[in-house]
Amino acid sequence: MDVVIRKGDPLKQKTSCIVIAVSEGKAPTKTLKALDEVLDGAIGKAQREQEFRGKHKEILLLHAGRRLPAERVLLVGLGKEKGNGTERLRQAIGTAASHLQGKKVRSFALDLSSFLLKGVSLASAARAAVEGATLGCYRFDRYRSENGAETPPELGQILMLVEKQGEIREAQEGATQARAICRGVVLARDLVNEPGNVKSPEHLAAKARELAEETGISCTVLGRAELEVEGMGALLGVAQGSVREPRLIVLEYRAGGGSAPVALIGKGVVFDAGGISLKPAEKMEEMKMDMAGGAAVLGTLLSAALLKLPVNLVGIVPAVENLPSGSAIRPGDVLTSLSKKTIEVINTDAEGRLILADALTYARRFNPRLVIDLATLTGACIIALGHHASAVLGNHEGLIRQLIRAGERCGERLWQLPLWEEYAGQIKSDIADVKNTGGRPAGAITAAAFLQKFASDFNWAHLDIAGTAWEDKGRPYTPKGGTGVGVRLLIDYLQGK
Ligand code: BES
Ligand code: MN
Ligand code: ZN
Repeated sequence: MDVVIRKGDPLKQKTSCIVIAVSEGKAPTKTLKALDEVLDGAIGKAQREQEFRGKHKEILLLHAGRRLPAERVLLVGLGKEKGNGTERLRQAIGTAASHLQGKKVRSFALDLSSFLLKGVSLASAARAAVEGATLGCYRFDRYRSENGAETPPELGQILMLVEKQGEIREAQEGATQARAICRGVVLARDLVNEPGNVKSPEHLAAKARELAEETGISCTVLGRAELEVEGMGALLGVAQGSVREPRLIVLEYRAGGGSAPVALIGKGVVFDAGGISLKPAEKMEEMKMDMAGGAAVLGTLLSAALLKLPVNLVGIVPAVENLPSGSAIRPGDVLTSLSKKTIEVINTDAEGRLILADALTYARRFNPRLVIDLATLTGACIIALGHHASAVLGNHEGLIRQLIRAGERCGERLWQLPLWEEYAGQIKSDIADVKNTGGRPAGAITAAAFLQKFASDFNWAHLDIAGTAWEDKGRPYTPKGGTGVGVRLLIDYLQGK
């Protein structure tokens, strides 16, 4: 998809569709009045008949006939002035763009001035517009035959119109940022949507090498033999049930001078059948998404490098497959982790925390200034928060607050759960240093309490994205399937506004 920014009058644009935003309960703008006149009062009529009132995400598509250079006009509602402005924009534009895509309209012009809300700069509006349109029109159709009726065309071009020549630069700045960010989100979504038969740990490693090559960052991949030499018994334990060999993927992006790096760690379970503690069949196919944390880390490093963010980042993705087999670990086994702490495996389906334990210990050699891990870690997190927020827990309140704020800005919301030391009582083992499950109560918290045992000397936050990494129904700029959650959150956090 191309984005072009130009000064221009929306009513004079030759385009397949001109997209104009309308706020609810506000007097019509100059453009809207002029448009209504050209269209013989069609807009006013639609408003009077209550077909279109400018409610958030409401749309009205009209054919312009010969009355305008544009073939069609699409009005999209912004709703009432309240809440997070940029999120409202992303949702409205995502709705508009995917509607047009469904009608096989491949390119459109957007009247950017109509999308300017109180408290939202031109650059932020342009960024939200490009994010909303790009992410709203995202489709994973690699495995559909061509010309299938179900396959909508790819978006061709968005032309964004501004009023003054002097505004082009600022809008361009926002649009360019959005494109770099969306590259990372799209990479993460593609990786999550990729089926398990294609997505081996080595497949993830190959994708990491590819993105490192494109951006000039460094990539190291440890294979089974190297993991054995290191002594990553927890990670290797999970991996031993699958014939596909594990990988530890390490990406390093350095543009922050001599400062200590931020370490980002992402769970990369390419398929989670549960191991010997086998999961039920229902919805097991969705467990190809159990590497969404790892995908978010790869996507964030790609976007950060494209944006040339002035920071040092280390991305660590432990990649394994969790399958039952004759060689798989059993409930009751004791593993020796890289930290030398021993772990009693009560349930082989609590595998994420095992591989993250070794990844956290591995992160120590980078002396990180802070550590953030992302994982589709627990079903209990979905019970607690549903699909509208990821859980955040950790040992550094300042970091947690900043992450929550970043989540509010970008629309990937977080909600904090407590990590009081009492919870650690649930993961005491009778025979080892710790056990990998804490029973049913507070499952998302005891999982984090387990991770804390391996993160205690870091400034650390853990994000449980089990409820947000996969979309079941489709939302305005998040189609069904992998959401790419985490990429925009971390970029927004690192940009720290
Ligand atoms: N990957 C799952 C968690 C999950 C469940 C993510 C549903 C997304 C949707 C994780 O490995 C898991 O199986 N966790 C267990 C832990 C339990 C055995 C302590 C769970 O939540 O049931
Ligand atoms: Mn599991
Ligand atoms: Zn899992």
